Amino acid sequence: MTALSIRPAAPGDGAFLADMVVEAANWRDGTNRPRPVVLADPVHRGYVAGWQRPADAGVVAVDPEGRPVGAAWYRVFPPDAAAHGFVAAGVPELIVGVRPLWRAQGVGRALLQGVTDAARRAGFARLALSVEHGNFAAALYRSEGFAVIASTATRDTMVRRLG
Ligand SMILES: CC(C)(COP(=O)(O)OP(=O)(O)OC[C@H]1O[C@@H](n2cnc3c(N)ncnc32)[C@H](O)[C@@H]1OP(=O)(O)O)[C@@H](O)C(=O)NCCC(=O)NCCS
Repeated sequence: MTALSIRPAAPGDGAFLADMVVEAANWRDGTNRPRPVVLADPVHRGYVAGWQRPADAGVVAVDPEGRPVGAAWYRVFPPDAAAHGFVAAGVPELIVGVRPLWRAQGVGRALLQGVTDAARRAGFARLALSVEHGNFAAALYRSEGFAVIASTATRDTMVRRLG
């Protein structure tokens, strides 16, 4: 995390968060779905559309020039929304992404810790996420206190208690 700092996500970060949704959708080596294709998917679009709503919050890692290099944020979805990690009404789902050049340097873990603190301060009791099988990020989430509560053929839903 040398030379980087973490700040709260702001309403002007919507385009960068969309970039991070595209990174998350393309996590698998050799996958490179173009931005418009990823964001045409209602699930992916739902993570950023209309950013920033009143219940949305997150953190952004920025380089010394203030350029964003990664972000983690959460959003509360209604039960009928298209979202992969829906657990229950009032349980926000988090999304995290780091630009490729900045990966494996502790940025993702720092962002996860920052967004978890933000959710706790906002009074949420739990934080959820969805991760595809095979993504090493699942081990990162486990090491940050998330546990698998449901699985499909392709992905796990993980939850962390914030008490
Ligand atoms: C997942 C992601 C957010 C993690 O951020 P990061 O900055 O790369 O992660 P960190 O440097 O904080 O590393 C966290 C842990 O993961 C491990 N890790 C990092 N990259 C790894 C890799 N390619 N393979 C296996 N483990 C890895 C680190 O060793 C570290 O563990 P440690 O603290 O025990 O050493 C980032 O890699 C990313 O944006 N990936 C593509 C998008 C994505 O998959 N998003 C999540 C979708 S659910």
